[in-house]
Amino acid sequence: MNELETALNLLIFIFPAYAANAAPVIFGNRGPVMDFKKKLWGKRVLGDGKTFIGFFAGLACGIVSGVAISFLSTEYYPVFLPFLNTKEKIVVGLLLSLGALTGDLAGSFIKRRLGIERGQPSFLMDQLPFLFMALFFTLFYKPHIGQWIGFWGFVFLVAATFILHKATNVIAYRLRLKKVPW
Ligand code: CTP
Ligand code: MG
Repeated sequence: MNELETALNLLIFIFPAYAANAAPVIFGNRGPVMDFKKKLWGKRVLGDGKTFIGFFAGLACGIVSGVAISFLSTEYYPVFLPFLNTKEKIVVGLLLSLGALTGDLAGSFIKRRLGIERGQPSFLMDQLPFLFMALFFTLFYKPHIGQWIGFWGFVFLVAATFILHKATNVIAYRLRLKKVPW
């Protein structure tokens, strides 16, 4: 397998986590907030940016993309996670989505504890918790995926996540989906 194919495999793999992270920007920002406006140590537990509708819309989009990737890859692109069957790939997609959304909540929780207001950028907390938690949930289910990703694959995923997070946020800002370009 060449580098380009490896990179493509990794991007297909992580896609459900990206979908789960991005969908709330489009479908969320409405309905009750997940911390019920409660405070901890004088600051909101999570803040107004974390809604139930956003969470479940993210979960739905992540799962739907994971199911599509699972069936399509088994049929047309068998070099993608070749040691997993379609059903296992669907579970991976689900865990990537759930992990991404849980990690996103953890990131907001930490931001609030550090005194960073909702929507203010945080160089590490905006990108890493959702990626790490998505990987953690998935590796817990299939540790072998860790070997399949490998050290440089992991470095690639971190770098790709930073770049894509930046790019998609600027696009979402231009499309007026977000008030700030981060
Ligand atoms: N969103 C949502 N529900 C979620 C996650 C996100 O409704 N569970 C929506 C909110 O409108 C949020 C937007 O997606 O403002 C962007 O998400 P994110 O950048 O994670 O939230 P921020 O508003 O930047 O808040 P924080 O500082 O807590 O990260
Ligand atoms: Mg943000």
